[in-house]
This record gives sequence, structure tokens and C-alpha cells, in this order.
Amino acid sequence: MKAIVVVDKNWGIGRDKKLLVHLPGDLKYFKEHTLGKTIVMGRETLESLPGGRPLLNRNNIVLTRNKGYRADCSICHSKEELLKMVKDENTEEVFIIGGEKVYKQFLPYCDTCYVTKIDKTLDADKFFYNLDEDENFSVVYESGVIEEDGTRYKFVEYRRK
Ligand SMILES: NC(=O)c1ccc[n+]([C@@H]2O[C@H](COP(=O)([O-])OP(=O)(O)OC[C@H]3O[C@@H](n4cnc5c(N)ncnc54)[C@H](OP(=O)(O)O)[C@@H]3O)[C@@H](O)[C@H]2O)c1
Repeated sequence: MKAIVVVDKNWGIGRDKKLLVHLPGDLKYFKEHTLGKTIVMGRETLESLPGGRPLLNRNNIVLTRNKGYRADCSICHSKEELLKMVKDENTEEVFIIGGEKVYKQFLPYCDTCYVTKIDKTLDADKFFYNLDEDENFSVVYESGVIEEDGTRYKFVEYRRK
């Protein structure tokens, strides 16, 4: 499995159930990586998407403990059920896309993390794990700095050693 996330300097990922920033270049990068793939997200993240709708042209799997939850995408009620559901898929094709609770549970199963690093400290209430402090991960790719609407960021790929 892989994780894909955008973080600020403190590995913050969101505030008040929303993303911290909207960067067109990052959205394009996210789309390029996930189109045609399976994406796994928590119920809060689904509901934060535009119109609260699943993302087009991807196999959306949503985690919730609510047994009566909507039927416009695949639903999973536990970590174990999710792992079973994706076990026959190529793990290269399964992306964990958030939020905090879901990243935390599935990072141990991820061998690659695509991290968009924003060169700013923002006011976050949700966080990703700090991969720079984890000796199990190393950086295998780092883009140059990109600047959009006064925000500087770069794409960094971490791989489990
Ligand atoms: N920066 C980024 O790249 C990025 C990406 C995605 C999201 N975010 C941000 O992250 C924040 C949301 O994160 P969050 O931690 O609050 O919510 P979340 O992880 O998106 O969703 C949490 C919900 O998922 C369900 N869930 C999680 N684990 C489960 C399990 N093992 N079994 C069954 N259901 C499970 C539960 O839903 P029920 O309550 O329905 O049971 C839980 O309340 C927002 O601010 C969002 O914008 C940022």
C-alpha cells in the first residue's frame, strides 16, 4: 500500500475538517497518482470532498463503523475488513488518502509515502506521522521547490527501508 498526503512544516494535515491549503499543482499530482487506482479514506475525509462525493474514476473505499452508511461507494467497517477487501489487489494500486485516523492505522502497511511538503507552518488540528524522525523510512525522491499563490512546496517520496 501507499499513502499520499500534503503536510505543513509540522506534519499538520487539516483543520476544522478541511484541508489546510488548496494547491492546484498538488491536486494534479494527487490525481496523476490515484486515477484508476483504489483509494481508501475515512468517513470524515469523504464528507470533506467537494459535494461530499466519492472521487471519479477511482475505486473509493470508505471506512465507517456506521452499518447503515450510504451506498454510492464501497464501505468497510473495520481495519481487518479493509485488509481483506484489498488482499487480492496489487498493493502498488492501493492508496491510503486520509485523514489522520486512517493514516495512523494503515501507515504500518505502507511501503511508500508521497508527501507534498508545504514550506509554511499552518494552524492544524490533525497530523500525519513525522517520517523524517522514523529510521524505517528514507527519502528516495525530492522535487525542486514549486511556488503557487505565494506558497512554496515540494514533492517528496519516502520508501520503507
Ligand atoms: N492533508 C491531507 O493530505 C489530508 C488528506 C485527507 C484528509 N485530511 C484532513 O484530515 C481531517 C480528517 O481526519 P480525521 O482523522 O478527523 O478523519 P478520517 O480519518 O477521515 O475519518 C475518521 C472516521 O473514519 C472511520 N474509521 C476510521 N477508522 C476506522 C476503522 N478502523 N473501522 C471503521 N471505521 C473507521 C470512522 O467513521 P465513523 O465515525 O463514521 O464510524 C471515523 O470517525 C480533515 O481535516 C481532512 O481535511 C488531510
